[in-house]
Amino acid sequence: MHIDPSERKWIYVVLALSAIFLTVIVYTAVVYNAAPPSNVETIDSAQLHLSEEFAEDRLGARAMADGSVRVTMVAARYGFFPRNVTVPAATPVTFRWATLDVLHGVHAEGTNMATMIVPGFVSQLRTVFPKPGVYQVICNEFCGVGHDYMWSQLTVVPKADWKG
Ligand code: CUA
Repeated sequence: MHIDPSERKWIYVVLALSAIFLTVIVYTAVVYNAAPPSNVETIDSAQLHLSEEFAEDRLGARAMADGSVRVTMVAARYGFFPRNVTVPAATPVTFRWATLDVLHGVHAEGTNMATMIVPGFVSQLRTVFPKPGVYQVICNEFCGVGHDYMWSQLTVVPKADWKG
């Protein structure tokens, strides 16, 4: 079979690019523990204010019996609530998210705390913040005219200073 030399060259380029992309995906999955969220749990987004877990006065961080911390938050146009959450460093933290309205994406800059928040589902992820600091939490899925202003703050304090 005849393959034109320039076509052959581009076949190699495509194969090389595919290998690079695959390597990056596998590398970030293994080294940075980046994985798609696997929690499939449904919720009625229109009734969040009435739910056990996502009612306004239940939101925020709390200590769990196993020594980890659970953070329950709601995303809504245009903010993440509560606006400021404080968690301990070097401690497993489980985030549980639900949206009141449309699809949002949440990311704490400089950390691997990132997930999509899909209407009708609870997004859950577990991570550990090694270093204390103040991290901006931003929305990274376009959700409307106020998308650029949708943010909140995550404060990570030394473990000894955290009060559940
Ligand atoms: Cu919420 Cu963009």
